[in-house]
Amino acid sequence: MIYLRCYFKYYYVLLLSIFLVLCLNIYLVFFFLKEETSIGKSTLLNYNASYFATQNILNSLSKLDKDYDLPIPTEESSILKELEVLLSNLKLKFNGDIDLFNATINIMNKDGLMPLYGTPYLGSTINLLKTSEIIKTYNALKGTQLKLLLMFKNNQEVLFKPKWYSESKIIYGDVYAGKDRYNGEIMAFYISLILGFPRVPIVVKRILDSTEIHKTANIGLKKTMYINSTTKEMCLYGKCFYCKREDPVCTKSERLEGAAIFHLPPYMKLKQRLHPWRRTYNENKTARWETDNNFCTYVKATFDSERILDFIDICIFDFIIGNGDRHRYEVIEQFNNTIILIDNGKSFGNPYKDHTDILAPLYQCCIIRQKTWERLKSIKGGTFTNVLQNMLVIHETISLITLPHYNALERRLKLVYATVTMCQNQSNESIFK
Ligand SMILES: *[C@@H]1O[C@H](CO)[C@@H](O)[C@H](O)[C@H]1NC(C)=O
Ligand SMILES: *[C@@H]1O[C@H](CO)[C@@H](O)[C@H](O)[C@H]1NC(C)=O
Ligand SMILES: *[C@@H]1O[C@H](CO)[C@@H](O)[C@H](O)[C@H]1NC(C)=O
Ligand SMILES: *[C@@H]1O[C@H](CO)[C@@H](O)[C@H](O)[C@H]1NC(C)=O
Ligand SMILES: *[C@@H]1O[C@H](CO)[C@@H](O)[C@H](O)[C@H]1NC(C)=O
Ligand SMILES: *[C@@H]1O[C@H](CO)[C@@H](O)[C@H](O)[C@H]1NC(C)=O
Ligand SMILES: *[C@@H]1O[C@H](CO)[C@@H](O)[C@H](O)[C@H]1NC(C)=O
Repeated sequence: MIYLRCYFKYYYVLLLSIFLVLCLNIYLVFFFLKEETSIGKSTLLNYNASYFATQNILNSLSKLDKDYDLPIPTEESSILKELEVLLSNLKLKFNGDIDLFNATINIMNKDGLMPLYGTPYLGSTINLLKTSEIIKTYNALKGTQLKLLLMFKNNQEVLFKPKWYSESKIIYGDVYAGKDRYNGEIMAFYISLILGFPRVPIVVKRILDSTEIHKTANIGLKKTMYINSTTKEMCLYGKCFYCKREDPVCTKSERLEGAAIFHLPPYMKLKQRLHPWRRTYNENKTARWETDNNFCTYVKATFDSERILDFIDICIFDFIIGNGDRHRYEVIEQFNNTIILIDNGKSFGNPYKDHTDILAPLYQCCIIRQKTWERLKSIKGGTFTNVLQNMLVIHETISLITLPHYNALERRLKLVYATVTMCQNQSNESIFK
């Protein structure tokens, strides 16, 4: 009997405990549910800032005026006429007694590296960059990837970025994945001129042969060179942050292709600055602009309006070439800290992917320079590709990029139109500055 009573006691205690635990559970469920609906929703919205911006841009694209598919006749556009002059300047061969490299440097000013119509000696300078005799080859130590510094007879220097990938190679992964694309550097030069941002130093395709490299390489570089015993090709891995002996670049049929980039003279002081819309380069961390579409308010408090308009010009350029790696930008101190666009090699990676978030400065600030907008509109309806290919055939070849990349250029240009129209539709006042 005593035992039984005891059991009854335990039974009540057990029931009471179960009841209490249930109550606690129900309370906790409600507690967390409440937290989730308030915090969860806003983090979703924030986390999704780039996603929602992209959806709005695509929506705007679907409503985009069909007029954006129609080209403007050249004779009706002063911009297209100016591009014709540029084209003829690219063709021209200057036969005067002039120091072409010096002239190229002397034309640079706070408005950019050359006038928008080029210079009468542009074509000849490009030709010289492709053919000048190299007297010394060094390992350029700046940056994270392998770069060579070629010196010509007159001491003019040229940066050389070797070709790592075939033109048809598609780079998957992050927007900044892979090694530099030499053809991206060359394309960026021509596209910058078409878009009206003459801020990329001249870049040409240059082919080095193995004897030339071997003959001119300095001791430091030679130490990283060897002949592959199987292929008999010369390989070099150089010295840089990512350079590894196991990962060399090798000649093909004793030739090494790459991009030769006009090197600004050392007296021009280039200063690197952090880009406010830079990425974190850490998959587990998002930058503030990625989660906050009001980020421009913060930038406006820190940068003057002309610089913000620069960021917007640059993001349009970067979006079109597919470069999501502009974490820093360079300014030239002598020229009122004007921006120049160097290091464009992380472009033309994947022609099937548009990284809309590169446009964040544009869709978050929703302003654009009037002259940039006029320029962009003037190359609509396929003119962009036409002008680009007409330029490329002069010194390079249109097969520098594949057809899907040309399609991507036109597609992204239309996404820029869609973004600007979206901004204008959302605003009472003119977004054109
Ligand atoms: C953003 O939100 C949409 C719709 O709510 C969802 O389908 C998508 O997966 C989200 N994207 C990310 C990256 O969280
Ligand atoms: C912009 O607004 C106009 C007028 O409200 C509308 O007809 C047009 O479709 C909108 N365009 C875009 C791209 O949203
Ligand atoms: C290059 O240009 C500068 C500035 O105009 C001039 O002083 C210099 O003499 C020029 N050098 C050569 C080699 O022509
Ligand atoms: C030589 O080239 C072959 C073919 O590309 C490659 O498989 C091999 O690893 C190379 N050898 C060395 C030592 O780099
Ligand atoms: C991100 O987080 C995952 C899982 O916690 C981890 O494995 C990975 O190393 C992290 N990546 C970086 C770049 O910190
Ligand atoms: C130099 O840059 C500042 C800041 O963008 C600008 O206000 C000023 O007008 C510029 N000066 C010249 C001479 O262009
Ligand atoms: C647009 O105009 C309305 C009425 O004039 C005004 O109340 C509103 O603040 C304006 N919005 C913006 C973003 O300027």
